[in-house]
Amino acid sequence: MADLQNCDFCSLNPLELFEQVTAQGEKVRSLKAEKAPKDEIDTAVKLLLSLKLSYKTATGEEYKPGSPPADFTPVSNGPGDTEDNDFVDPWTVQTSNAKGVDYDKLIVRFGSSKIDKDLINRIERVTGHKPHHFLCRGIFFSHRDMNQILDAYENKKPFYLYTGRGPSAEAMHVGHLIPFTFTKWLQEVFNVPLVIQITDDEKYLWKDMTLEKAYQCAIENIKDIIACGFDINKTFIFSDLEYLGMSPGFYRNIVKIQKHVTFNQVKGIFGFTDSDCIGKISFPAIQAAPSFSTSFPQIFNNKSNIPCLIPCAIDQDPYFRMTRDVAPRLGFSKPALLHSVFFPALQGAQTKMSSSDPNSSIFLTDTPKQIKTKINKHAFSGGKDTVEEHRKYGGNCDVDVSYMYLTFFLEDDDKLEQIKQAYTSGALLTGELKKALIETLQPLIAAHQQRRKQITDEIVKEFMTPRKLAFDY
Ligand code: TYM
Repeated sequence: MADLQNCDFCSLNPLELFEQVTAQGEKVRSLKAEKAPKDEIDTAVKLLLSLKLSYKTATGEEYKPGSPPADFTPVSNGPGDTEDNDFVDPWTVQTSNAKGVDYDKLIVRFGSSKIDKDLINRIERVTGHKPHHFLCRGIFFSHRDMNQILDAYENKKPFYLYTGRGPSAEAMHVGHLIPFTFTKWLQEVFNVPLVIQITDDEKYLWKDMTLEKAYQCAIENIKDIIACGFDINKTFIFSDLEYLGMSPGFYRNIVKIQKHVTFNQVKGIFGFTDSDCIGKISFPAIQAAPSFSTSFPQIFNNKSNIPCLIPCAIDQDPYFRMTRDVAPRLGFSKPALLHSVFFPALQGAQTKMSSSDPNSSIFLTDTPKQIKTKINKHAFSGGKDTVEEHRKYGGNCDVDVSYMYLTFFLEDDDKLEQIKQAYTSGALLTGELKKALIETLQPLIAAHQQRRKQITDEIVKEFMTPRKLAFDY
């Protein structure tokens, strides 16, 4: 589809347009109040109408006084921003609160919507499947436009899933299992195509890494992703370094996005500075482009408006706020999103697990012994200092990392509740809680490693071959 070039103020972003409409509205009001000459008022009104039309073209919505465009309201994110000093962007997640980031506040700050009981019930009704425990336990806690995806599904209209990974190291950690495990569930219950972007270009630009190393990490990570159980007939996995050279459709979308987003906008969203290399500044367009179905003509038969749903942790939201802002100006649908919380570092929920700090994370390559040692040695405990005190006052599950990890990986609700009660009352000691976690994680990771061993180079190649999937468009 041609991008929309026929607006008078195309160079302005939605927020700038919003501000211009507001200012022009005030000007018209004061001209009228001053009883200015009719032709002067008419000219001002004409400009106001034209600005309003451009605003509608850019956002897909009518201008509403006092309601700036949600997807482009810049999110102030600096330290000292909130009482808790929460800081969340694609590279840093930090808070001074031992319970972790305040996700309710983040919903308000990012302008997304809470995944509430009504939405979970609707997902159950529409799919006929019991909701995933990540939904019921608030691990996927926020969304954008999920109801529109459910409307499409109910009306038998197609949509697709898009998620990704930045291959910063050869090994992935258990936190990365969250979006991929959930995406696999979504693919199963909705039976839709899935595209997975591996941003080896991003890691080359951000890290001290050669292109060759970034690509090598991409292939190693792809094996872990395939081992999560994705259906080869319904999934396309691509490395940016490889696919960009193969797909004019993908590159054309990147260029369109680049034309419609200014340096000022990406500075506001991502905090880029004048000394950042130009590769970083233009990269957000590359992560945005897979949200549009024309980036995958082989899958979607060149259809331009197949909506997209993106499951990810909320750190990736800035990319997709930008994508949603630009989409209507290119004549595309805004992608919908499902956001998860972060899997905390072993040392505590003040930060997320990171691939670059081996002691902060449990990796998918760790042996049973390493898992046991890391948990026993590093997992932050909400228990009391002595057994006597613990028995008397009980432990604090809100800050205990072993308990938090169990909420992600122990599927049995009754068992999880029993553990919570026993730890809070002091009946269960920290060592026993850690043992429960070790016994949950060791078999889970061993099974993942077993599945990964079966992934041959041929299987990787097949997942990465641009091709039609098991769907007709
Ligand atoms: P990356 O590699 O940092 O993370 C991959 C996915 O894992 C999520 N994630 C986590 N989830 C829970 N707990 C954690 N501790 C944790 N750490 C990371 C991320 O939110 C992400 O969903 N630029 C991206 C790659 C990318 C992408 C996408 C991600 C490209 N296109 C579309 C999501 C959706 C990146 O570096 O992700």
